[in-house]
Amino acid sequence: MAKTFKRKKLTIAIDGPSGAGKSTVARSLAKRLGYVYIDTGAMYRSVALRVKEKGISPEDEVALNPLAASLHFSFITQGEQTHVLCDGKDVTEAIRIPEISRLASYISKQQRVREALVQMQREMGKEGGVILEGRDIGTVVFPDADVKFYLDAESDERVRRRYHEMVQKGVKVDFKETQEELVQRDH
Ligand code: DC
Repeated sequence: MAKTFKRKKLTIAIDGPSGAGKSTVARSLAKRLGYVYIDTGAMYRSVALRVKEKGISPEDEVALNPLAASLHFSFITQGEQTHVLCDGKDVTEAIRIPEISRLASYISKQQRVREALVQMQREMGKEGGVILEGRDIGTVVFPDADVKFYLDAESDERVRRRYHEMVQKGVKVDFKETQEELVQRDH
């Protein structure tokens, strides 16, 4: 009897700084392969949104770890848009505003927030069939990913891309502000 081989579903990591084109590449690859695209930046942003909604101090690491660990995420990609659901609520738009970008940048430096989200990301990716995108995926989260990409671009180009991405999403942004935020996020 002929043996049938099922192709192993891969875990693919895409790293690189903001505005390098990671999400565009990740989304289109996910579509081609029929994989789930996981935007890990959206997870940090969602924690920031919850911190704001709940009125928790962003410095309170003791409260931030269980908060981050308690959240449930799903990612639904439709065409060019990926919807981020946090505890069943669509937060796609809410997590993109500049205030949440700043807060996400701040809380993503907290070690205990990172621990909670990294553990969750490993869980989400362990069965394969996923593309995880973020700045530490190939180095910290999945150093042994089946395939790893690192995307980069000149900083001016990255600012331009980020700015147009926000404008397209209908978010009111200032070019200079976008530039400053990108420099801060890279740091
Ligand atoms: O890529 P982004 O701008 O959506 O990410 C939001 C914030 O989360 C940003 O400050 C970088 C941080 N981040 C992180 O620390 N680790 C990741 N894997 C993804 C994002």
